[in-house]
Amino acid sequence: MKILEVQGGAPLEGRIRAQGAKNATTKLLVASLVSDKPCILNNVPNIGDVEITVDLCKELGSKVTWDRKEKRLEIHTETLKTSYIPQRFSGANRIPILMIGALLGRTNEDIIVPTAGGDRIGKRPINFHIQALETLGAKIESRTMKTEGAYFAQAHNGLKGGVIHLEYPSVGATENSILAAMRAKGNTTIKNAATEPEIIELMLFLQKMGAAISLDADRTIHIEGIKKFLPVEHTIVSDRIEAASYAIAAVSTKGRVFIEGAQQLNMLTFLNKLREIGGGFEIKPDGIEFFHTGYLSGGLHIETDVHPGFMTDWQQPFAVLLTQTEGSSVLHETVYENRFGYIHMLRKMGADIELFRQCLGGKSCRFATRNYLHSAVIRGPTPLIGSDISIPDLRAGFAYVLAALLAEGKSKIEGLWMLERGYEHFVEKLNSLGADIKIVDTKAPKLAKASVS
Ligand code: EPU
Repeated sequence: MKILEVQGGAPLEGRIRAQGAKNATTKLLVASLVSDKPCILNNVPNIGDVEITVDLCKELGSKVTWDRKEKRLEIHTETLKTSYIPQRFSGANRIPILMIGALLGRTNEDIIVPTAGGDRIGKRPINFHIQALETLGAKIESRTMKTEGAYFAQAHNGLKGGVIHLEYPSVGATENSILAAMRAKGNTTIKNAATEPEIIELMLFLQKMGAAISLDADRTIHIEGIKKFLPVEHTIVSDRIEAASYAIAAVSTKGRVFIEGAQQLNMLTFLNKLREIGGGFEIKPDGIEFFHTGYLSGGLHIETDVHPGFMTDWQQPFAVLLTQTEGSSVLHETVYENRFGYIHMLRKMGADIELFRQCLGGKSCRFATRNYLHSAVIRGPTPLIGSDISIPDLRAGFAYVLAALLAEGKSKIEGLWMLERGYEHFVEKLNSLGADIKIVDTKAPKLAKASVS
């Protein structure tokens, strides 16, 4: 088994290039299936989730050439080979469920999709997806195939544009609705839509493909289906989660890192919070430089939220940063009910963090009366000690790497594949900044799992 060995203590210094956004690339690959024309993507990150999505598209009939060195990928799905997504893709990531929206208008056959996977960060239901697609005329049923669950979806009479009102601005449900609307007859309106930069990226891509698609100031998206499909070439926006992760690594290790391609606009809220605790940054024409300014103060209140709020995926590395600030800070997670499972291990490493079921801070959220540990109080600064760690999910994984980089002594981290799902060449990138981190092959028994407490 491969594990990571991290020796903490070194300040990170130097320059790296931001990868293309994971959560945009995978969606554009799925979006390419709506069309029978070729699509070219530039700035494609070399990560596990892209690999899985490419495999998935090939399974359905896409021809794909991916030049990993040039970060350029061409995908062309002239005809669909099948609309059955095998069970082996079940649980791999959240992408299969989006195939329903992408394929509904392209086939009269049933679309069979394994039940949704992804990280262990909450229940992650798909009720909003189903309600939205049914509004456009789809019929979706959940059935058991052998021992596993699958969704059977069809629109034998074609899809018809309609008005979708999302109960919550879910990223995935918005994407599924947009994709289905592409081949629906007439116009579709999505109210209370997610407006994350990755959604905007999808809209830009689909406009190039031939769609008329627009966004109002009140989270309403309008789509007029495509009449004539056009070939597309698109360069993927940089990954704001990866950029924030390295930014925090620079500031917390008392270093200085320039991230080429990091974009101020998509990191606005993050930058404000970083400045509030005394983290330094300078916006340059081709990226952002992040650095330690000498003193980090706590007393911060963060509430994760949908865009343009503070991203839930910034929460985990920021929590590690807050263990190094002077005073108490509050983190209130309002997007996922169970996104503090990783805290247990940080505590073991020496962090002073308490979890609460109440909404701490400004407002009550959807989880106010639902008995989830979804608020945290972090007191700092606390020294951290190297540990044996098992990664529970992607973003917690990077937070652990970060904690290990700050810790005294050596840490061993298991679950490398999870990090490779979302962070391109992260071992090389961290080493180039002066970190002491390596992958080692070990026959040792599994390390203790971090659990929710
Ligand atoms: N939700 C429902 N019902 C639904 C859909 C969502 O209750 O039908 C709930 C979820 O359980 C969650 C909340 O709504 O509590 C938000 O979920 P959303 O649908 O917005 O998230 P997602 O599309 O499943 C994407 C990203 C996540 C990111 C979230 C929020 C991808 C592949 N995943 O997930 O990224 O945290 O949006 O921005 O795009 C990651 O990259 O590590 C990651 C988890």
